[in-house]
Amino acid sequence: MSRIFSGIQPSGSLHIGNYLGAVKNWVELQHKYESFFCIVDYHAITLPYKPDDLRARVADMALGLLAAGLDPAKCTIFVQSMVPEHTELAWIFNTLTPLGELERQTQFKEKASREESVPAGILNYPVLQAADILLYRAELVPVGEDQLQHLELSREIARKWNARFGASGFFPEPKGLLTPARRIMGLDGQAKMSKSLGNTVDLLEDPKSVWEKLKPAVTDPKRVRRTDPGTPEVCNIYHLHKAFSPAATVEHVAVQCRSAGWGCLDCKKVLHESMEKELVPIRARAKEIAAHPAKMKKDLAAGAEHAGSIASGTMTEVKKKMGLT
Ligand code: TRP
Repeated sequence: MSRIFSGIQPSGSLHIGNYLGAVKNWVELQHKYESFFCIVDYHAITLPYKPDDLRARVADMALGLLAAGLDPAKCTIFVQSMVPEHTELAWIFNTLTPLGELERQTQFKEKASREESVPAGILNYPVLQAADILLYRAELVPVGEDQLQHLELSREIARKWNARFGASGFFPEPKGLLTPARRIMGLDGQAKMSKSLGNTVDLLEDPKSVWEKLKPAVTDPKRVRRTDPGTPEVCNIYHLHKAFSPAATVEHVAVQCRSAGWGCLDCKKVLHESMEKELVPIRARAKEIAAHPAKMKKDLAAGAEHAGSIASGTMTEVKKKMGLT
């Protein structure tokens, strides 16, 4: 079985964009691969933050991942800072990574342009990411397109380390496993769903509140009157139907929209029902997990222990080859 690794920032509770764009796919993949899923808290401290807030965001993320269906019996789920080898290997990789490559990363340029003073951690972010992946010698990395440039850098680092220390093939060159779902737009229909834009639906949000958000959500902007026929392909609600509704319903929705048989609110009601079908069991699982916090802690500790045993094996080899103790 090939090994896969992916990481997610502890942004707090999961929203349906994270879920449809990444985590739902992970839930499938855990049955097909030897899987490692990591809450990357060291990646989340590159800009100022509140310690208590970070702790809560990590716990909320863990709860969301488990509720969404990651099963600690099937995959290794853990928190990055509980396995210190991540930062140890990152330092080593920092010594091989050309500064120019880091400065060329699109995400670095974007993030740095927003800051008055740029912490070196933002620059070195992709080096830590390479360490995350290569520590487990993972071959495949399920990610969205926005991470492909970071992954290319991980491959370069693997190649370089292997060549420099005469260890051809020690680190495999990890390949991206692109998430099948197209990127999920926010309810404003303007930009990718993202917490900072306030256009999200939370994975664990209660049904009433989900409905209150769906009601005013942007649809086909050209469909002004109820009697105007709509164009499903340009409607964000239609795209959410594709993510949540059965194929026959999606088909029906498109017909009703094009013929103005349904108004947008009718269409949203059906979407809400489809979402409920998927979200009800997730919410139930979350309730169960939240009721037993000690169990979740134990699962995360066991995940970190298993990850740590592989990580320490890799580091022993790495240090030997590098002339370190
Ligand atoms: N940079 C990734 C993101 O923002 C998160 C991440 C950290 C990651 N380490 C990783 C993803 C390793 C895949 C593999 O989404």
